[in-house]
Amino acid sequence: MAGSRHLSCFALANGACLIQRARMSTPNVYCMDHPLILHHLTELRDETTTPRIFRANVNRLATLLAYEATQDLQISERPVKTPVTHATGHALSERIGLIPILRAGLGMVDPVLELIPDAEVWHLGMYRDEKTFQTVEYYQKLPEDRPVDVGMIVDPMLATGGSAIAALEAVTAWGAGRTKLLAIIASPEGIAAIQEKFPDTQIYVCAIDEKLNANKYIVPGLGDAGDRIFNT
Ligand code: PRP
Ligand code: URA
Repeated sequence: MAGSRHLSCFALANGACLIQRARMSTPNVYCMDHPLILHHLTELRDETTTPRIFRANVNRLATLLAYEATQDLQISERPVKTPVTHATGHALSERIGLIPILRAGLGMVDPVLELIPDAEVWHLGMYRDEKTFQTVEYYQKLPEDRPVDVGMIVDPMLATGGSAIAALEAVTAWGAGRTKLLAIIASPEGIAAIQEKFPDTQIYVCAIDEKLNANKYIVPGLGDAGDRIFNT
């Protein structure tokens, strides 16, 4: 796939950025290392980046992730009459569900909708308990019928994987045909947890960081994505 590598790893050592790229045989994990992604991601990580710039960069990175994650969408032929002649064009032929995990996932909705304006948006409300790190689900209104063909879950951070797994359980129980998870930064632990429970889910990330710290924050990470997006 153009612009992506299977499992890249971004690590900070002694203050210097080391980008280690390794092509590993890890199916269904796509880590982008496009120069635009690396540039905007670094600005996103920077603790001096203001919420306004942070939101703009989440938007840019979500666009680039969505471009990559939609490469396998089905299309059908669609006749089109141009001012010059008749031609055969194409149209997306699958029902696509965009599923943001509140709050931080909201920051990725608009850019993906910009690319797929007819996608359905189904919100899932979850937060991590700060002491136990367990996922607390507080909002879920997926319908009981008419599941989408492709369920695209968006959340900037994949840390322990608890939130993404809860989202995947809901979307899978709904009956979505295929599932994709788009995150800006993932931990190796989070990727492994998803792959163990949902090996068929395609995971698209801008970086796989070094580890989780004792508070289950991603290291080097970017801190609390929701707080930085919403200036809280
Ligand atoms: C953050 C993030 C993910 C979750 C990742 O949300 O946006 O949803 O943590 O952590 P996990 O992989 O260990 O589950 P948070 O719980 O901070 O809620 P918020 O977006 O409302 O701030
Ligand atoms: N949620 C965040 O926003 N950041 C992390 O590093 C981990 C979970």
